[in-house]
Amino acid sequence: MHSGLPAQDAIDARAIRTRPVAIVALDRPDARAAFDLVERLPDATFFKVGLQLFTAEGPDVVRRLKGDGMRVFLDLKLHDIPNTVAGAVRSATELGADIVSLHAAGGAAMLEAAADAVAGVADPPLLFAVTVLTSLNPTDLSATWGRSSLSLRDEAARLARFAANHGCDGVVASVHEADPIRRATRADFPILAPGIRLPGDQTDDQVRVATPADAARLGIDFIVVGRSVTAGADPAAAYQRIARVLAADEGSENG
Ligand code: C5P
Repeated sequence: MHSGLPAQDAIDARAIRTRPVAIVALDRPDARAAFDLVERLPDATFFKVGLQLFTAEGPDVVRRLKGDGMRVFLDLKLHDIPNTVAGAVRSATELGADIVSLHAAGGAAMLEAAADAVAGVADPPLLFAVTVLTSLNPTDLSATWGRSSLSLRDEAARLARFAANHGCDGVVASVHEADPIRRATRADFPILAPGIRLPGDQTDDQVRVATPADAARLGIDFIVVGRSVTAGADPAAAYQRIARVLAADEGSENG
């Protein structure tokens, strides 16, 4: 629980951060395709099970990954009434999920019900709140909320503070919002960033993309790598390239 967080004016996040951890998105239609990908990535130990795979195969995919010693980010982006979300978080805890996502926009009661559901549990999953989806641009955001000229960075920071004040352990946000989020919460508030692309990659449907080097430089805690790794002919090579960048002192783009 992180209530009453002080706002901070000047933050040198780089001074205190560790290297980002890469989580590979198993955005595959079925378990066979997902575990084919896992086998092709011998260096990867943290996987994201999202809506596509979970809807197709259910919790067995998570159980199998955990049985194989992997860490799992269960990215179901929960957004429902508090009682329902609390139940889903309890189920995810029983599955052994390491991180579970939920929408900050679900409201204070929903976030607190989720936090209460893991309070006192041994080895609970971390609750990461989605701030603003990395596929949205400022026009989309303003249209969605019916307000003109919304700033993505301000909105992400506001929602991050809201999530932190209502029991979340971290936020899902783009790399570009790291600084305002840390100013609105605290210097070491955990951030998990999707929308990661290697230099030269296509952006696909993501709008606010950044490279692994950007993520390392800004002290992002976890990056989700999807199509940058999974769409190419050699996922293992792409993963190793990202791992090298994350391990490098200055987050070098080359390597
Ligand atoms: O292929 P790509 O790298 O774009 O995949 C990003 C993954 O991260 C997808 O599984 C997507 O659902 C997820 N994600 C996202 N934006 C968020 C939260 C999760 O793109 N805010």
